[in-house]
Amino acid sequence: MPVARLKVWRGGDDGAYEDYEVEYEEGMVVLDVVHRLQATQTPDLAVRWNCKAGKCGSCSAEINGRPQLQCMQRMEQYPEDEVIQIAPLKTFPLIRDLVCDVSWNYKIAKTIPEFQLTAPDQDGNRRMAQIDIDRGQEFRKCIECYLCQDVCHVIRDHPDNKDDFAGPRFFVQLANVAMHPLDTNPRRDTVDHGFGLEYCNITKCCTDVCPEHIKITDNAIIPLKERRVDEFYDPLRIIGRKFFGKK
Ligand code: SF4
Ligand code: SF4
Ligand code: FES
Repeated sequence: MPVARLKVWRGGDDGAYEDYEVEYEEGMVVLDVVHRLQATQTPDLAVRWNCKAGKCGSCSAEINGRPQLQCMQRMEQYPEDEVIQIAPLKTFPLIRDLVCDVSWNYKIAKTIPEFQLTAPDQDGNRRMAQIDIDRGQEFRKCIECYLCQDVCHVIRDHPDNKDDFAGPRFFVQLANVAMHPLDTNPRRDTVDHGFGLEYCNITKCCTDVCPEHIKITDNAIIPLKERRVDEFYDPLRIIGRKFFGKK
């Protein structure tokens, strides 16, 4: 039976990596090995998980320095002598071992405008083009794993920005409202400065780590930035607002 060589973060902020060796079987993923470690050597190891199917977004961690879902990383990909380092997400306050406090994200979620739908057509239905349905479906694939939030340097390297920056997961949610053809929220509310879109310099790191392969930068952030420029800096709109009170 192959043996995994693990380096796992233990404790809180003043903790340290500890080395473990755990036997594993073909077909196992990193989360299976962490569970076996917990069951056989470290019963107090804190690790969050739920579905083991890449759908609940709970088991996010940094594996060999890359933000990933532990349940989606097969052990076969690591050479047998490789040490696999498993760390908690760096961007959020650490609770213990591999578990972080991600509640900042829930606070941001409450600030995203809700859909305000148009009135239905006379026959009681609402209609939209297939291209708009496809776009919305991409945005709704998000499993709220917060890997994109974790990797984004705007808050990872500058925690103070958390007061002014919603982060890529919420730019996806914002884009879902702002680009929905049946939404009637004032455009300014969905592309407002308050979400910190201007801090993003389109590095695409968020897109690179998204396990749902949402094109966060190309399909959400860049179109939102374009809308924001139209809304706040288009001279014709500025004149319209000034002289005709147009929104
Ligand atoms: S593209 Fe923008 S939101 Fe995404 S990781 Fe880079 S700076 Fe952050
Ligand atoms: S956008 Fe992707 S990486 Fe970000 S929280 Fe949603 S699923 Fe996770
Ligand atoms: S346990 Fe649900 S995504 Fe990994």
